[in-house]
Amino acid sequence: MKKVVLIAGDGIGTEITESVTQILKAAGAQIDWVHAKAGLSAYEELGTPLPDETIEAIEKHKVLLKGPLTTPVGTGFRSVNVALRQKFDLYSNIRPARTLPSIDSPFKQVDMVIFRENTQGLYIGKEHWIDEAEKNHAESIAVVTEKASQRIIRAAFEYAQGHDRRKVSLVHKANILKFTTGLFLEVGRKIALEYPNIEFEDLIVDNMAMQMVMRPERFDVVVTTNLFGDILSDLASGLVGGLGVTGAANMGDNEAMFEAVHGSAPDIAGQGKANPMALLFSALMLLEHIEQKPVANNIAKAIYKTLVEKKVYCTPDIGGKGTTQTFTQAVIDNL
Ligand code: NAI
Ligand code: MG
Repeated sequence: MKKVVLIAGDGIGTEITESVTQILKAAGAQIDWVHAKAGLSAYEELGTPLPDETIEAIEKHKVLLKGPLTTPVGTGFRSVNVALRQKFDLYSNIRPARTLPSIDSPFKQVDMVIFRENTQGLYIGKEHWIDEAEKNHAESIAVVTEKASQRIIRAAFEYAQGHDRRKVSLVHKANILKFTTGLFLEVGRKIALEYPNIEFEDLIVDNMAMQMVMRPERFDVVVTTNLFGDILSDLASGLVGGLGVTGAANMGDNEAMFEAVHGSAPDIAGQGKANPMALLFSALMLLEHIEQKPVANNIAKAIYKTLVEKKVYCTPDIGGKGTTQTFTQAVIDNL
């Protein structure tokens, strides 16, 4: 039995983590869940959104499955999601997007994996007022270092090599942000020389957004800075059926955190409408990480079978007529 920390999360978090743990159990995953608290629910109950016991559990067990956590907008505590990535230096945010059967989308044959730098860029939250009294002029700082760029770009190339992928596309805005994303591009060009068997290209982010909608099938592995990766990976989710169907991994050198790309969806919480598939795909990445890939493969087959044969049992966001629970049961029946 492998011990894995589980944070159920806020909003739809409890519904989708319940579904995922049921399916993993039915599939025979050898996991002993260690329950921990974080997010708005922890804040309301314990006065902190990230209790020390949660951090200690992650330090001890190294692997975490996390439901979405609510971050108050504008004021209140800082994002726990961002805090966890920084605390454990989870520098690679890996977000695959693949065309799924029976899901309506004008885009076919999408199969890309976005590597988003997870610790720097404009996302570090270093903001200040120029005029503290008036609050009518704000500034935000972006950080890019050679070292952090090297490790995420290398992770993308290593993944490409290990998974028989042909190409790495690096996305930047080096024409305007010449220092920060210019450095990222320079590092990428150097590392690409070490992988002569993998094709390398670079694209400016606005062109990338257009290309992803015009010809998404031309992308394979994509690597980019934090904010661009955040936006483009949601775009990629949209190409294959929306936020309800794409999982993600946040990997560091020691710890790994698996979560859905989407948030806590307060608009549908508690209504049985939440699609657990995104968190389920994240859990499949977790199973691969803890060397239980055969279990992951069986679940993936059951998900595909459910989509093809029992679409009505799926949730409404992907055109089904079912609920979180009917989908869960259908996947379990198909195992
Ligand atoms: P969201 O991803 O929660 O929701 C966006 C839209 O997608 C909503 O209409 C929602 O109903 C739908 N949706 C999301 N997941 C779904 C699912 N599994 N099944 C069916 N429909 C789904 O984004 P939003 O509304 O911007 O953020 C809500 C909260 O979540 C905020 O507090 C935000 O900070 C937090 N958040 C947390 C993340 C994390 O834990 N990693 C990531 C993104 C947002
Ligand atoms: Mg996002």
